[in-house]
Amino acid sequence: MYAATLDGFGGPEVIRWAEVPDLPPPGPGEVAIDVVAAGVNRADLLQRQGFYPPPPGASDILGLEVSGVVAEAGAGVRDPRPGDRVCALLSGGGYAQRVVVAASQVLPVPEGLDLAAAAALPEVAATVWSNLVMRAGLHAGQLLLVHGGGSGIGTHAIQVAVNRGARVAVTAGSQYKLDRCAELGASIGINYREQDFVEVLGESGGADIILDNMGAKYLPRNVSALAEDGQLCVIGMQGGVTGELNLAELLGKRGTIHATNLRKRPATGKSSKAEIIAELRRHLWPLIAEGAVVPVVHAEVPVTEAAHAHELLDSAETVGKVVLRIDEA
Ligand SMILES: NC(=O)c1ccc[n+]([C@@H]2O[C@H](COP(=O)([O-])OP(=O)(O)OC[C@H]3O[C@@H](n4cnc5c(N)ncnc54)[C@H](OP(=O)(O)O)[C@@H]3O)[C@@H](O)[C@H]2O)c1
Repeated sequence: MYAATLDGFGGPEVIRWAEVPDLPPPGPGEVAIDVVAAGVNRADLLQRQGFYPPPPGASDILGLEVSGVVAEAGAGVRDPRPGDRVCALLSGGGYAQRVVVAASQVLPVPEGLDLAAAAALPEVAATVWSNLVMRAGLHAGQLLLVHGGGSGIGTHAIQVAVNRGARVAVTAGSQYKLDRCAELGASIGINYREQDFVEVLGESGGADIILDNMGAKYLPRNVSALAEDGQLCVIGMQGGVTGELNLAELLGKRGTIHATNLRKRPATGKSSKAEIIAELRRHLWPLIAEGAVVPVVHAEVPVTEAAHAHELLDSAETVGKVVLRIDEA
C-alpha cells in the first residue's frame, strides 16, 4: 500500500507519499478499513517535527482519524461489517490507503454525511465530548469559554455546548474567526490580541468551564476567569508546559483543573477510547445525523499534497478542519 512517510523529522517538506509494506489482516476484534480521507490534527505537525512520538505499539505513520469503507472484519466482529461506511479514531497510521483498528474505535458515518466530512469528526468529537460532557458535566445554563474558537476543536465544541443549552464565549485572533464562531452559536467573541478575556468573562461572573488549548501561558489568567466551582479543562500546550498556579485563587473558588490526552488512552477499559466512542455513538451521533452538529471543514487536500495541508493548519488561517483525500492519490 501507499502511505505518507517521513523523510526524517522537520518541516512539511519531509512528508513523502511512498510505498510501504502491506498491513497484516485484522486480528480478533479488529477491522481493516480502505481509507477515503484522513483528518489533519495539530498533533500531526508536532509528530512530523519529532516532538510527539506515537505511543508504544502504534503505527509511526501520521494520522489520528480516518473515514473509509470496511474491507475486512476480524474474528468476533459483528459490527461494522465489510462494505460499511465508517470513520475511526486511531493512535496513528491514518495517512495511508489502509488502516487496521479495533472495532470499538469505529463509528458509522452519520446519515447524510459524505465520507470526507466524516474524517473530520472522530478526534474533535472524542476530545470535546470526553472533556466537556464526560469530565466536566457541561449542562444547560452554564457559561463555557473556548480558547481558539476557530480551531477544529473549537468549532466543534461551540456546537456541542450550544446544543446542550450552554452559553459560549470564544477567544480568537481575528474578527473573521470570531464571526465564524458567532455563526456556529458563540454569543461572546473575544479578540485575544485586543481584549483581556479575564475582564470580559468577569462581566458575566466568570466561566463555569474553560476548554483550553494554550496550557502554561494562560494558566494564571484561566484560573482568574473561572466562576465559583468552575472547571478548567486543559487539552493543549500551545503556550508551553510549565506555568504558575495560584492555589489560593483556585481554592477560594473551589475550582478544578482537568488535563487530558486522547491518544495515549487505553483501547478498552476505564477511561478508554472504546468508552468514549460508545458515548459518542449513543449521544452525539444522533445530533450529527439530524444536522444539529456539523463537521466544519476548511479544506480538502489530496494526500500527495499533505505538506501543503500542514502549512495550511500552521498558517492559523483555517477555520475548522483540514482533511486529506487519500482516495485521490
Ligand atoms: N488533549 C487532547 O486529547 C487533544 C486532542 C485534540 C487536540 N488537542 C489540542 O487542541 C488544540 C486545538 O487542536 P486543533 O487540531 O483543533 O488545532 P488547530 O485547528 O490548528 O487550532 C489551533 C488554534 O489555536 C489558536 N490560537 C493560537 N494562539 C492562540 C491564543 N493565544 N489564544 C487562543 N487561541 C490561540 C489558533 O487560532 P487564532 O488564529 O485565533 O490564534 C488556532 O485556531 C491543540 O492545542 C491540540 O493540540 C488536544
